[in-house]
Amino acid sequence: MIVDLAFTPHELEKKELTGKSVVVIDALRATTTMTVGFENGAAAFIPVETVEEARDLVAKNPGFLLAGERGARPLEGFHLGNSPRDYRPQKVKGKTIVMTTTNGTRALVVARGGAEVLIGSFLNLSALVDRLIEAERDVIIACSGEKDIFCLEDTVCGGAIVEQLEKTGLPLVKTDAAGAAKILYEQCEGNVYGMLCTCEWGVYLEGLGLGKDVRVCAQVDSSKIVPVYRDGRIILDR
Ligand code: MLT
Repeated sequence: MIVDLAFTPHELEKKELTGKSVVVIDALRATTTMTVGFENGAAAFIPVETVEEARDLVAKNPGFLLAGERGARPLEGFHLGNSPRDYRPQKVKGKTIVMTTTNGTRALVVARGGAEVLIGSFLNLSALVDRLIEAERDVIIACSGEKDIFCLEDTVCGGAIVEQLEKTGLPLVKTDAAGAAKILYEQCEGNVYGMLCTCEWGVYLEGLGLGKDVRVCAQVDSSKIVPVYRDGRIILDR
């Protein structure tokens, strides 16, 4: 199995995705929020790149919820922001959620060419690794980054996946990017919360009074689900 990693969506655009499992990570906060949404009964997420696309889609489908952020702040007229704590069962159960975020939904849109596209975060690390092993495909870990620039939290989360895959004893070939991510993960293993609090976006979220979200995003292996992005929708297929 070859394991590669893209630090940003721009880098992902240059990679050959055909036949591969692609794991999209936006640890702070989009992919964490989606996982929490599914845990609380959401039916599906539809990721779109722009606020206009999101508004249009919900205007045509009034039963859908409109969700997302810009600069981590909720958008005017939207039902939900991007805080995992917003996605309570009474709001999201059975709902299809149209979501636009700055980086996470962009990475998803770029990842569409993969044989399967999985939603990853610290919450579902082990479940994700089990699924990758089962699929037996080469893997590309797609970090969402911050406006096409490297960010620490997604790379460390990607490094944790590389580490867990390696621990299974499977014959693994790591690219330099995947190896570098693993080295970064080893630096903060056992203190994921500390890393999330001190990385740039974690500090920014804390400054907006969203420190409790960072705590949610640090709940390693709290979920057994692996959402899948297929035919324009993120769903649970099992
Ligand atoms: C993003 O997609 O850029 C984020 O999830 C930002 C956030 O709301 O924290």
